Amino acid sequence: MKENETEETMSTWISRNNLSWYHKLCINVLKAGPIPRHVAFIMDGNRRYATKENVATRLGHSKGFDKLSQTLLWCQEIGIKEVTVYAFSIENFGRSPEEVETLMSLASDKFEKLLEEVDKLHENGLCIRIIGNLILIPEELRARIAQAVLLTKDNDKAFLNIAFAYTSRDEITNSFQVINDGVHAKEIDEHDISEYLINKCMYSGKSTKPDILIRTSGEVRFSDFLLWQTWNTNVIFHKVLWPDFTIWHLLACVFYYQMYYAHQTRIENEFGFEHRDDKNEKVEFFLKNLESKRMKQLETYASYLTQNVSN
Ligand code: FPP
Ligand code: MG
Repeated sequence: MKENETEETMSTWISRNNLSWYHKLCINVLKAGPIPRHVAFIMDGNRRYATKENVATRLGHSKGFDKLSQTLLWCQEIGIKEVTVYAFSIENFGRSPEEVETLMSLASDKFEKLLEEVDKLHENGLCIRIIGNLILIPEELRARIAQAVLLTKDNDKAFLNIAFAYTSRDEITNSFQVINDGVHAKEIDEHDISEYLINKCMYSGKSTKPDILIRTSGEVRFSDFLLWQTWNTNVIFHKVLWPDFTIWHLLACVFYYQMYYAHQTRIENEFGFEHRDDKNEKVEFFLKNLESKRMKQLETYASYLTQNVSN
């Protein structure tokens, strides 16, 4: 167990680049074709990994975090600019209190670590965004998350969207509530409601839609993840448990994306609402205000750290 504990404390958000020449060769071959801009992951199978390896559940999740950090590096090498991961579903609150506590404490440690290594994140140009209902999570973790988002908000080389206390149904409901409030406050009109506006009011409103969604562990379900955003996303289910995911799995997914690229692009051009002309000055002003309200809310959450936690 001692060895395991040491491994956990060593984990970091920015992995060291230890790709070999043959990894780089394969990456460069794939780069001759189209590269997905945005890849989403349902990182499933941490507990089964822990059982398989006969280690504590927390270590399974911690290995899952390390895999996320490695995957970010691989994505960066491949040229994938945006990654969205399902880190904690609202449904996960239904797990045993011990496991919820384990996941919250792990996340809290990882965000504390993130705040310590924020310079490395700036060097890598990594912008962290959170999609989810932050009101549902403990105050101190929420404050760390908010701080991480605020500190990295201007980075623009790579984007990591972490779905935490997230479900699609909650996200869509929240978007409708925001729009309803806007209509009642006469900031927008009923006829301004469009797919474009609903999309922009999502927690993920600043993101493009994912080009690929990868779910590990052999489960063939969406589990309420990005249901609005995945209308034209290639979905890949793989039986590998998340902590066992390798660069070869990722490269195979990119290859799969390339095989269906022409078809996916044709559908996007025909049906994509991002290209439709649903914008107008009032809507854009409303969205700008929404963004500044959300930023102010994050500042309020983050202020908990200065008020309650002494370093
Ligand atoms: C699914 O495996 C995984 C989770 C519910 C947690 C995922 C979290 C991480 C990988 C850590 C990320 C942390 C941060 C701060 C981003 P499971 O528990 O459902 O395992 P099982 O399917 O084998 O039961
Ligand atoms: Mg699972």
